[in-house]
Amino acid sequence: MRIGLIGAGAVADFHISAAHTLEGAEISAICDLDDAVASRAAAAAGGVPVFEDYRDMYASGLVDAVVVNTPHALHLPMVQDAAAAGLHVLVEKPMATSLDDCDAMVQACQDAGVAFTVGHIQHFMPDKIAARELIDSGELGDVVLVRDYRSTDYRPGSRSDWFFSKKMAGGGALINIGGHCLDRCLWFGGGRATEVFASTAHRFDTEVETDGNIALRLDNGVGVSISVVSDPPLKSDTMFIVCEKGVVVADPRRGTLLQVDGASRVIREPQPDDIQSAFTAQMKDFLSVVAGDEPEVPLEHARHVVELVLSSYRSSLEKRTIDVERQHATAS
Ligand SMILES: NC(=O)c1ccc[n+]([C@@H]2O[C@H](COP(=O)([O-])OP(=O)(O)OC[C@H]3O[C@@H](n4cnc5c(N)ncnc54)[C@H](O)[C@@H]3O)[C@@H](O)[C@H]2O)c1
Repeated sequence: MRIGLIGAGAVADFHISAAHTLEGAEISAICDLDDAVASRAAAAAGGVPVFEDYRDMYASGLVDAVVVNTPHALHLPMVQDAAAAGLHVLVEKPMATSLDDCDAMVQACQDAGVAFTVGHIQHFMPDKIAARELIDSGELGDVVLVRDYRSTDYRPGSRSDWFFSKKMAGGGALINIGGHCLDRCLWFGGGRATEVFASTAHRFDTEVETDGNIALRLDNGVGVSISVVSDPPLKSDTMFIVCEKGVVVADPRRGTLLQVDGASRVIREPQPDDIQSAFTAQMKDFLSVVAGDEPEVPLEHARHVVELVLSSYRSSLEKRTIDVERQHATAS
């Protein structure tokens, strides 16, 4: 599988190393508007050709698949054009900035008969997999509550400018970092959200939200609480998964921990290559989808994450709880 990478930014090296590690995959071309960025990544990929316009890369005959690793609003045209060129696609999270865009991407890939997956990396993080296996063993009973708190940094200058453009990013801390939280909370909560209540804060004179809280009720009764806070004095990337018979903590820096009746147990210690191994497992999953398997992360799940980000914005704006299903009935 000859893979072209579009967007050689923050996580490009993880995608490049993933392809390098896996038998049957190679990064065969890099595309980025920034020539210096593209050239650096192309060297890391072993001196592969560089393109400025992704359409030229699609037409080059050098790629069978693409990783779309670009600003969120560009995911739609890049995925649609890839499908039209007969290329398989792994698009970075969030899938898109609107539900119409999500649906158009799925339709384009279905019509073209190409594989399509969304890079929800949380499903491949070793600390989350250890938590998932523990919960799936049944030892702790059912999941009853999930609490997730992630710190981030949405001060201008802390990341690329496009992240602060509503048009290009679709929103701020919630669509970006909150998307990871929604993804993993739904996964561990084991249901779809029926109700959303959210609040957002706009600090640092930015167009997009810098912080936010989201409360969800899932259709199986599980309650979820998510907080994303910018530039706090204490950093966090910690999930608490409350089960009937114990509480699991999953945190990439602290590992996977369990507390049952006052006694704690380390389930898994963090390892230095955990993030890379997650990106490698994610690309392995993509290759297996190309081969005809079902994706680890269903497209409907990735779409639901976008739906809940948008519902959160609406809840915050209208200062009320959003009935997720009913809002579509009302809209149509
Ligand atoms: N899975 C994760 O943990 C994770 C982490 C960070 C970012 N992301 C996602 O990855 C995507 C990219 O984010 P990032 O942090 O790498 O952003 P970034 O700003 O660091 O990099 C984006 C790159 O895309 C390039 N680019 C922009 N428009 C382009 C175009 N039309 N054609 C070709 N290249 C173009 C830019 O020049 C830049 O080098 C986003 O969807 C983001 O949410 C995922």
